[in-house]
Amino acid sequence: MTNLLILGGTTEANALVKTLADQGIPATYSYAGRVDNPRPQPLPVRVGGFGGVEGLTRYLTDHAITHVVDATHPFAAQMSTNAISACREAGVPLVALTRPAWRAHDEDRWQHVSDIGAAVTALSGPKRRVFLAVGRLHLEDFAAQPQHHFLLRLVDEPDALPLPDCEAIVSRGPFTEAGDRALMLQHGIELVVSKNSGGNGARAKLDAARALGVPVLMIDRPTLPQRTELSNVTQVLDWLAHSGVNLGV
Ligand SMILES: NC(=O)c1ccc[n+]([C@@H]2O[C@H](COP(=O)([O-])OP(=O)(O)OC[C@H]3O[C@@H](n4cnc5c(N)ncnc54)[C@H](OP(=O)(O)O)[C@@H]3O)[C@@H](O)[C@H]2O)c1
Repeated sequence: MTNLLILGGTTEANALVKTLADQGIPATYSYAGRVDNPRPQPLPVRVGGFGGVEGLTRYLTDHAITHVVDATHPFAAQMSTNAISACREAGVPLVALTRPAWRAHDEDRWQHVSDIGAAVTALSGPKRRVFLAVGRLHLEDFAAQPQHHFLLRLVDEPDALPLPDCEAIVSRGPFTEAGDRALMLQHGIELVVSKNSGGNGARAKLDAARALGVPVLMIDRPTLPQRTELSNVTQVLDWLAHSGVNLGV
């Protein structure tokens, strides 16, 4: 019997699970448990890590998982790498549902860096007002450049601000170009630091930066081992149909 595991925490995963629920396809949605109140889902949800490759392999076997869709964020490299190994180990077909990376327009002023460490290094120099839009996980790394004023945008209220000169806005998005332009003007932003997450919800800051002529330090995606990548829900349904799942339509 079909029994899907969806590795989630993204809008893509949410859209997929809604379609699966509408079509009556059995699946479980997995959250890492990083945010305080994860969005409710129309299918069963589990929360928390599996315990590395070994734990995930065991989970796949114990729960008789027939297919895995890795719809995690493009920067969730550990989870995605573990999924490739565990699915190979357990003999379970795997596909990734991932949004295409953003590409610079002619008018964009992007400087590409390979990872968070390279972004921190690229920030050496005189004080600037920086919109640090990289999520919560690696903020402490930027304490190595304490001369800057950092504007943070976070999903949950932080317990403590991790940088000496910073302010935090708590907001879950999606954001608009007009809203982000107003935000950047209000805070006198001179540089945006962004991961190349892709998708529509988070690109407003890049559109706003382009409109204002503000430069962007763009952190490129981590490189993952070879896997099948699809970019929308329809392609995943086609893949499932070709993998023997009865979609009932
Ligand atoms: N990284 C980002 O920029 C970003 C942005 C937006 C949303 N997210 C979402 O936030 C979550 C964590 O991202 P991350 O970058 O911290 O991941 P990560 O560094 O690749 O993963 C670290 C560990 O967290 C656990 N984990 C991650 N995603 C999981 C999931 N969907 N279900 C169960 N366990 C999961 C796994 O623990 P075990 O080894 O114990 O299994 C994994 O080894 C993911 O769901 C991702 O989609 C990440």
